[in-house]
Amino acid sequence: MRLISVSDYSALSTAAADLIAAQILLKPACVLGLATGSSPVGAYRELVKLHQAGRLSFSRVTTFNLDEYRGLPDDHPQSYHTFMNQNLFRAVDLPSGAAHLLDGMDPDAARQCAGYEAAIHAAGGIDLQLLGMGHNGHIGFNEPADFFPLDTHCVDLTPSTRQANQRFFPSLDDVPRQAYTMGIRTILSARRILILVHGADKAEILKTAFYGPVTPQVPASILQLHSDVTLVADEAALSAL
Ligand code: F6R
Repeated sequence: MRLISVSDYSALSTAAADLIAAQILLKPACVLGLATGSSPVGAYRELVKLHQAGRLSFSRVTTFNLDEYRGLPDDHPQSYHTFMNQNLFRAVDLPSGAAHLLDGMDPDAARQCAGYEAAIHAAGGIDLQLLGMGHNGHIGFNEPADFFPLDTHCVDLTPSTRQANQRFFPSLDDVPRQAYTMGIRTILSARRILILVHGADKAEILKTAFYGPVTPQVPASILQLHSDVTLVADEAALSAL
């Protein structure tokens, strides 16, 4: 694992955007795996700036998002479709058909998940997967468990994840109970992985995930076994090391 230690969230966002931009410049027709949440928002903002300055084009890029709530329509304000449109897609020249997200309204989980895996495969696999990490070590919506879920699947969200996401919904009852997510094998199949971790509240889980044993109880710990992982973390997140 490569560790890029930065001072704060702003520096983390610039470093992450530079790495993603480098991927696109080196391979304009690349496949990016994307994440939602607070961790990548600043990086997306920097990528938009690079695009607006005429220095970066997404015209040949294909994207696959990690996950989507089950039961939320695409245009729901809290869907990850909406998040990606607002934070990145709307502001860059990514062709509309090139952005892939799981369809949270598909009642047929098996069809939806198998179709997503097939689409990633047909696109040639993911060149660079962007990740954040939950306070319990989750990546995507792969929650602590007794085993690593392999492929894209439907997951029951844990009470702690629903509580963490409650801030975006009117009440806890409105937070979806399930999500579709890439599995651990889907994520580890990416050629390169870029994970962003910021803030003192992630310091303990960062230490556990990257310097503790590899265990499905801490899903991000599996990243220790991938041959090309870059962790960009700020001082606060690295403070427990
Ligand atoms: C988002 C996702 C999640 C988040 C994680 C961290 O698509 O899959 O695993 O990356 O919950 O969220 P933030 O960045 O909000 O701390």
